[in-house]
Amino acid sequence: PKSELVLPPSMSFAYLTVKDRMPTILTKVIDTIHRSKNKFFEEYGEEGFEAEKKAISFLSKLRNEVQTDKPILELTDGLRDVDSWNQYLQRHQTVQGGKEAVSWFKSPWLYVECYMYRRIQEAIWLNPPINEFDVFNEGKTQSFFESQQATIALCTYLETLKKDKDGLSKNQLFDNFIKLLQVSLWGNKCDLSISAGQENSQKDSPIEALPNLKPFILVNDSDMVWAALTASKCTAVSGKRVDIVLDNAGFELVTDLVLADFLVSFSLASEVHFHGKSFPWFVSDVTAKDFEWIIRQTMAANHMWMSKSGVQWKQYLKDGVWSYHDHPFWTQPHEFCDMAVDAPDLYAKLKEANLVLFKGDLNYRKLTGDRDWDFTVDFDTVLRGFEPSPLCSLRTLKANVQVGLQPGQGEKLSSQEPNWMTSGKYAVIQFHGPHLE
Ligand code: F6P
Ligand code: MG
Repeated sequence: PKSELVLPPSMSFAYLTVKDRMPTILTKVIDTIHRSKNKFFEEYGEEGFEAEKKAISFLSKLRNEVQTDKPILELTDGLRDVDSWNQYLQRHQTVQGGKEAVSWFKSPWLYVECYMYRRIQEAIWLNPPINEFDVFNEGKTQSFFESQQATIALCTYLETLKKDKDGLSKNQLFDNFIKLLQVSLWGNKCDLSISAGQENSQKDSPIEALPNLKPFILVNDSDMVWAALTASKCTAVSGKRVDIVLDNAGFELVTDLVLADFLVSFSLASEVHFHGKSFPWFVSDVTAKDFEWIIRQTMAANHMWMSKSGVQWKQYLKDGVWSYHDHPFWTQPHEFCDMAVDAPDLYAKLKEANLVLFKGDLNYRKLTGDRDWDFTVDFDTVLRGFEPSPLCSLRTLKANVQVGLQPGQGEKLSSQEPNWMTSGKYAVIQFHGPHLE
């Protein structure tokens, strides 16, 4: 395989991320904790104040380590994933020839970016009583509220479809599947790490926007995804399970829930397993709390169709038709081709699914190992044996890795729009699995 995307070269997006975006995110985290000072005092008294001060000093030191290219330090909080992080670091130190070599600007991009989020969490976990605090909660909830009109439009669309369910032909079912798959794809634009925590919500009607966005889908394997879902083998009475490896909370999560509801309501799936993160990650990624919160908010909405959707979602969870899962592997820097060895239990679980949807850019980077692949290499090749089940990546491009393009396509885009790989303007629906008719 090609080498990992390593820092520098200067001015690459990896370099800009560590130089500018990560310190900005850390500054916002520090500010959030500082602004929560009175709340901590009200809840925990003097101890809350002390914890706030200590967490801020830990995070300021972390920001300084990033900005001055200090060595990457071993984690010290003694929690369950520490060994795996520290062993990973030691492996990189060996590869790079000695301890001093592994620093913030001289490491694989994927590793340092993941490591920063784990260190933020260390600052919180080491400081009870504020150790349950989600430093990104404010942004996630705000982005959900700012996408309210788009959420209403989407839930109304879904509930109207369900109302006329029996009148829907197979072609209409297919058309609507394609639409909701694309809505879920473009929902991935709304992540808060690309915007370094700045507001980034959905303002337009997500369905009406689709025709204008279609030209920006560089690889579109939707037909194969449909074939995998409707293959006769899967329609057996044993049922069909779709797993969704979630990415961001806020509007993107709404689009995933709507897609999952559509799959179940129209018997394209009998079960949906959602996979989220076990601690706050990449600013806007979904945790169990975010997942429950969004469903509660949707149920309580002051809009008939939106609240109807929320009530249905709650019921799916109660009936076990939907379930939420997290696993420490999702918050580690490993590429997915290592999952069978590093997290065999998770790999075995994904094997039980008939289809696994991987949302977002970070999951794409982990699927491809964040390597410097040629644009035309097959998606199948870069997965390097990671094939628990038929799988599909729904991703808007925000990092310098892209495979499966036509000859010349990547080069043409690079000459026309230098930032095409990182602007979030382009997207892919990329499938791997048996190619069924
Ligand atoms: O490209 C910027 C970036 O922060 C990447 O480092 C990361 O992979 C991505 O954005 C997160 O985006 P998503 O939420 O789609 O995974
Ligand atoms: Mg994300």
